[in-house]
Amino acid sequence: MPPTVFITRQLPESVLDRLSAVGEYRIGVREGVLSREALLAGVKEADGLICQLTDTIDQEVIDAGQRLKVIANVAVGYNNIDVAAAQRREIHVTNTPDVLTDATADLTWALILAATRRVVEADAFIRAGKFTGWDFEMLLGSGLTGKLLGILGYGRIGRAVARRATGFGMTVLYCNRDDIAFRDDPQHNAHVLSRQSVTSPLSQSARLDGLAARHVTFHQLIERSDIVSVHVPLAAATHHLIDRAVLAKMKPTAYLINTARGPIVDEAALVEALQAGWLAGAGLDVFEHEPAVSPALLSMPNVVLLPHIGSATRETRTAMAMLAAENVIDHFSGRVPRNKV
Ligand code: DGY
Repeated sequence: MPPTVFITRQLPESVLDRLSAVGEYRIGVREGVLSREALLAGVKEADGLICQLTDTIDQEVIDAGQRLKVIANVAVGYNNIDVAAAQRREIHVTNTPDVLTDATADLTWALILAATRRVVEADAFIRAGKFTGWDFEMLLGSGLTGKLLGILGYGRIGRAVARRATGFGMTVLYCNRDDIAFRDDPQHNAHVLSRQSVTSPLSQSARLDGLAARHVTFHQLIERSDIVSVHVPLAAATHHLIDRAVLAKMKPTAYLINTARGPIVDEAALVEALQAGWLAGAGLDVFEHEPAVSPALLSMPNVVLLPHIGSATRETRTAMAMLAAENVIDHFSGRVPRNKV
């Protein structure tokens, strides 16, 4: 019997065509988010599941899907899936890395530029009929050339954001996952600091890349960066990584950019920090309680808000959906899915 795949939300026709070559599929909703009841009912007869980051795939869903063998998330982040529960049932969980790296890095830069050059505020200014003539001090922003861009999480997307920084004449500071996990471990930080003196000012590999990137400790990055850009996955260890104490250490002229996951930043603390002037502004594509946004942020002109559109280009979303389908097909063709997490 051909396998049945439950797809929580409509995907592009090309992806559905590809899936129908190996099995049958059923679609939950044409648009929007599938209800919990429909999700629980949909997985009942399914051998594979293709889901979105808005679908919570927890123990209850996994229990309801007794035939499930593969869960393919159409996202690189998979914090919406209880991976441990899936593994207990030997269900493969897959994600969609690589195909969204450039789109997300581009949008990170859109936020950096929009926040520092007050693009959204300037657009609102002109639409409100306030542009009555050029003025020397009108809507002054903050320049980027010669400044420090701090990349928190130096994975695929973090590096892609860093590569784009060379075009803007910025120097990149970066922390990897260990620097974040062991941020308060004196031994770890001493090790990073000792390597800085060996490779100072730039490491050889960074020079070869044409990339002015410096490996720093978490605290150095927060205290020195003019832009702090978040690129870590959401996990227990990164929940509220950017909290009140961290925000208090940022430069008052610095900007926080988040295109990763909302709960990595304590949003209430961010509101307090912005109100107190601990940092100059923020660019946010993700929110702690998505789709809710802290009301105070809505009236702050120094904050640019986007509705989680980091990967939202036609090309990228199609590629993500196709990759999720290929992962399901891998499993049903007897292969280990290529993006098993
Ligand atoms: C992801 O893939 O995790 C993004 O947040 C949505 O594209």
